[in-house]
Amino acid sequence: MNSVVDWTQASLTELVDHIVDTHHAYLKKELPLLSELTTTILRVHGPNHGELFQVHKLFHTFKMEIEQHMMKEEDRGFKLMKEYEQNPGDQLQLLKNAVDNHMLEHDTAVSTINELRKVTQDYAVPEDACGTFSMTFKKLEELEADLIQHVHLENDILFPKIKAL
Ligand SMILES: [Fe+2]
Ligand SMILES: [Fe+2]
Repeated sequence: MNSVVDWTQASLTELVDHIVDTHHAYLKKELPLLSELTTTILRVHGPNHGELFQVHKLFHTFKMEIEQHMMKEEDRGFKLMKEYEQNPGDQLQLLKNAVDNHMLEHDTAVSTINELRKVTQDYAVPEDACGTFSMTFKKLEELEADLIQHVHLENDILFPKIKAL
């Protein structure tokens, strides 16, 4: 399945697999890279661009939050969803509780990424920025765009399917 698919019609398992294979895979690949990049630009440009201390801190806060969140989804909510679809049983309340927890964590991650946009003044690259600086801000902006789509699929499509059960 690809992004033109109408995900509202997909099964729980199809949706979960798509989210893990697309958005969780993207994060697992990009977060370590962005950790190095935000550290490098802090070291090189921090003396002239004090906001890079905040960027470094906020990015690593986000990284920790979203890594723990993905682990919980994969080990808890998503796992229960796939099990429930195979064999609808008495796990439903546990599953609904897991979904409530996952949604709360989305609010935290989204508010951290919103802070990043604020401290970078919408990812404006200063005139004295090097290529690495520009690439880092571009990648942070892509991270935000991916998170928006990721949270949309979970909050607006996947989780309401569970709520409706
Ligand atoms: Fe997720
Ligand atoms: Fe999530």
